[in-house]
Amino acid sequence: MKKYKDIAGDGGSNVVAQVGEQQARLQRRLDGVRFVVAVVSGKGGVGKSTVTANLAAAWASTGWRVGVLDADLNGPSMAKMLGVRGHALKVAGDAVEPPRSAIGVKVMSMDLLLSTDAEPLSWRAPTQQEAHTWRGTMEAQALREFLADTDWGDLDALVVDLPPGTDRLATVVSLIPVLAGTILVTIPSDVSQLVVRKSITVAQQVEKPILGLVENMAGLFPGPDVAMLAADAGIPFLGSVPFDRGLSLAGDRGDPFVVTEPASPAAQAFSAIAAKIRDGLERRPRC
Ligand SMILES: Nc1ncnc2c1ncn2[C@@H]1O[C@H](COP(=O)(O)OP(=O)(O)OP(=O)(O)O)[C@@H](O)[C@H]1O
Ligand SMILES: [Mg+2]
Repeated sequence: MKKYKDIAGDGGSNVVAQVGEQQARLQRRLDGVRFVVAVVSGKGGVGKSTVTANLAAAWASTGWRVGVLDADLNGPSMAKMLGVRGHALKVAGDAVEPPRSAIGVKVMSMDLLLSTDAEPLSWRAPTQQEAHTWRGTMEAQALREFLADTDWGDLDALVVDLPPGTDRLATVVSLIPVLAGTILVTIPSDVSQLVVRKSITVAQQVEKPILGLVENMAGLFPGPDVAMLAADAGIPFLGSVPFDRGLSLAGDRGDPFVVTEPASPAAQAFSAIAAKIRDGLERRPRC
């Protein structure tokens, strides 16, 4: 398949230079970000977004400057979970100012761009029937724009919440070569772990540090031991977050549980996991 650089003439649109310029702008935007981390799991619904929102809030509450990029373009949930749904995006100079959550987390999400709750994301392709052939390229382009055109300012951490699927991590790594590492999420079920094993392999293949594996919804099912899965894969086990209805309700309200119920076992687990990751990151130079 031809790539942009193989195309001798592109009708004057100079796509190669445009993409190159945008990638350079993205790089400049991330110059002020100490650590970019991605939250991933091949499995859907295991709590990636919940983990992202609560880690971001936990870090912000201990003084870190934090941003969240919602890389789930089709099922965005970060604006909702961090309480910034409906906030207007302000354009300042050549960039968009992301809204801030109550605790100060900057959020960029497709949810802030779609006009109604029911509006799905659709890609402009020569025909809608062939939109699927363009999806990967257009998703990558949309994420590149989010990263390059958002005024992230100086951040200690930018947390990227990925959609389910094992393939998206490679896209994120190609857009963000400075990615400091990945945080994997699973739940104690055989089905989840079957998929998450593949995610671990992908995370190892992209040659970025694996910061560790989080067990979410602990205690909900009498499932396999997640610490053992981490040990078998040779990756750090970060901790277990118990199943708690209140945690889910807090996400629905846009109030991260670590802020509203800091003494609860789930919030304590998130805080301990956040501290563990932060300590690990602080101990090494930005890669
Ligand atoms: N520990 C928990 N206790 C109770 N409910 C939880 C817990 N973790 C997540 N949930 C709830 O489970 C649902 C799925 O969580 P979430 O959206 O974070 O998963 P996800 O992995 O990001 O999903 P997707 O794959 O669709 O992006 C949400 O309603 C969330 O509030
Ligand atoms: Mg999600």
